[in-house]
Amino acid sequence: MSKVLYIKANAKEKGQSRTFKISDSFIDEYKKQNPNDVVLTLDLYKEGIDFLPIGQLAELHAPEPGTGKNHPILKYAFQFLEADKYVIAEPLWNLSIPAILKAYIDYITVTGITFRYTATGPVGLCTGKKAVNIVGRGGDYSTEPAASFEMGDRYLKTIFGFLGITDYITIAAEGLDVLGNDIDSIVGQAISKAKEIAKNF
Ligand SMILES: Cc1cc2nc3c(=O)[nH]c(=O)nc-3n(C[C@H](O)[C@H](O)[C@H](O)COP(=O)(O)O)c2cc1C
Repeated sequence: MSKVLYIKANAKEKGQSRTFKISDSFIDEYKKQNPNDVVLTLDLYKEGIDFLPIGQLAELHAPEPGTGKNHPILKYAFQFLEADKYVIAEPLWNLSIPAILKAYIDYITVTGITFRYTATGPVGLCTGKKAVNIVGRGGDYSTEPAASFEMGDRYLKTIFGFLGITDYITIAAEGLDVLGNDIDSIVGQAISKAKEIAKNF
């Protein structure tokens, strides 16, 4: 039995987000294929994820051994570590990830929980896990020169790798705000791809 953490990062209401239409389809298909797995949804806006608070960085970056899983911020790092698989749903905002998702990364990237320092450098502690990032983009970043401007998925892939998660794939719906594009068709194709990948995720 696997534990899946479904991390949602969009300010849009349910039914409005194209990204969530694709990611919810992924999750539905995944549940169909893996009825005994546990899927935990973490909606970062509903959760009220915020910037790291003033005056607590030392405590958060090198927590005392035994600091409990009930800590209001560190609990997210423990929860992240306990998952086997991650499904991230996020729109491209200003060439990167939404700020609330970056704030969440600041919550979960904790020395001694999700990574640790060694004599030869930092080592990720979230090994043997896998992730899929599902992203909706207003423009089309699938080819150069636009591809180089896209820093959200590249950042997520890099920070997940830092935490030890190198099995990372991306499902991108491109050109969702380009006038004249057939948006239903783009979303439909992304949903088909998401369902295919969900079958063996
Ligand atoms: C705050 C904000 C910033 C955005 N920045 C970009 C951007 O840099 N590049 C882009 O192509 N689209 C940008 N968009 C458009 C979204 O990427 C696009 O609408 C995407 O499909 C949103 O997916 P959604 O329907 O799930 O919200 C931005 C949208 C918002 C609200």
